[in-house]
Amino acid sequence: MKRSKTPDKEQDQARNLILKSSRKMLIAAQGIGTSRWAASARAWCVSYIFNGMEAVFASGRDPVEGMNELFRDAADFFQSASRTGFHRLGPDRVNQVAPVESSPYEPDHSAIENATGQHYGRLFREFSQASFWEEPLELLRTRLERNGIEFADLARMSVLDAGCGGGRYTAAWKQLGAGSVTGVDISSIGVASAEHRVKDAGLSGISFKQGSVIELPFPDRSFDIVFSNGVLHHTVDWQAGVRELLRVLKTGGFGWLYLIESPGGLFWATIEVLRDLMQGADREFTRLSLKLLGIPDNRIFYMLDHVLVPINLRLTPFEVESSLISAGAANIRRLSRGTDFDRIERIHQGDPYAEVKYGAGENRFVFTRQ
Ligand SMILES: C[S@@+](CC[C@H](N)C(=O)[O-])C[C@H]1O[C@@H](n2cnc3c(N)ncnc32)[C@H](O)[C@@H]1O
Repeated sequence: MKRSKTPDKEQDQARNLILKSSRKMLIAAQGIGTSRWAASARAWCVSYIFNGMEAVFASGRDPVEGMNELFRDAADFFQSASRTGFHRLGPDRVNQVAPVESSPYEPDHSAIENATGQHYGRLFREFSQASFWEEPLELLRTRLERNGIEFADLARMSVLDAGCGGGRYTAAWKQLGAGSVTGVDISSIGVASAEHRVKDAGLSGISFKQGSVIELPFPDRSFDIVFSNGVLHHTVDWQAGVRELLRVLKTGGFGWLYLIESPGGLFWATIEVLRDLMQGADREFTRLSLKLLGIPDNRIFYMLDHVLVPINLRLTPFEVESSLISAGAANIRRLSRGTDFDRIERIHQGDPYAEVKYGAGENRFVFTRQ
């Protein structure tokens, strides 16, 4: 694989395309203060920008122009709100979370893991039954099929879902026909809600454990398949996580790893802007603010997932592949297809302005263990 050229510069390029309008919005947002009311107003803006971004990207029009319009709308809203004296509603600064989580100088690892676990546990716990049982199964099946991945004897295989969240893909692997599936996650809320759902459904051959993906609580070579979907980029040491995935995978076993991509185009540049907008916001209050707008829980997850999580690393395909090689992976392949919603599929299908919108597309890799 060719080394992608100066990823930081490319990331900046996407951010530069929306720099002026997004800065205007961030400055205008300061005018409404940091009370809980202000946090709700910011949450509306996250919803507005996400919905707007989807509409802009689907329209086929110039996405830079479209995104700049959205940020200008949001700036107008914040300016107008601050003129009404919005910042005087409620005490200031009650919505701030402990700054220790995001300090790059002295990161408190357990505070980060705790905040991350609570964030995802609460989002996943609210999923409807259809969002838990049906949608992930369909997504997984499509991603496997479109990339031509088949398993000869899945019924005899053991699967590890590393960073299983509320267990939606753990359940999907079982429904696909895996022999046994184990989900592990740092979130006690996530693990408890996963256990509850599976028990309610009377599904056997599936179990959950609380633990860290950067120190997996399993012996070497325990699983035929390791699957980790969107997890390691939220940890304090993603490369240790890659090594752990390889350590617990049997020789000749199959691995699946999804990590956020760099360059990430306007999509991830916009998420960076929204992370700035929401920095320090109370996560649960933000979730409830969106719920009151009638937004379905799986959409709330989609909007708040990366915007409110303490760590949200973006990696080039080269970085991910290099880390897999160092950890002992073989037959590494970056998947070029996905569901119709996946960025890599939009690129594959030749969407207009695909690279401006989606950058490199998802880092979704499969591999085996030597
Ligand atoms: C975006 S969610 C993905 C969940 C699941 N893989 C899915 O696709 O539904 C990220 C998950 O990683 C978990 N996580 C973050 N850091 C972790 C760690 N060090 N060990 C285990 N799980 C972790 C979070 O608790 C969360 O459930």
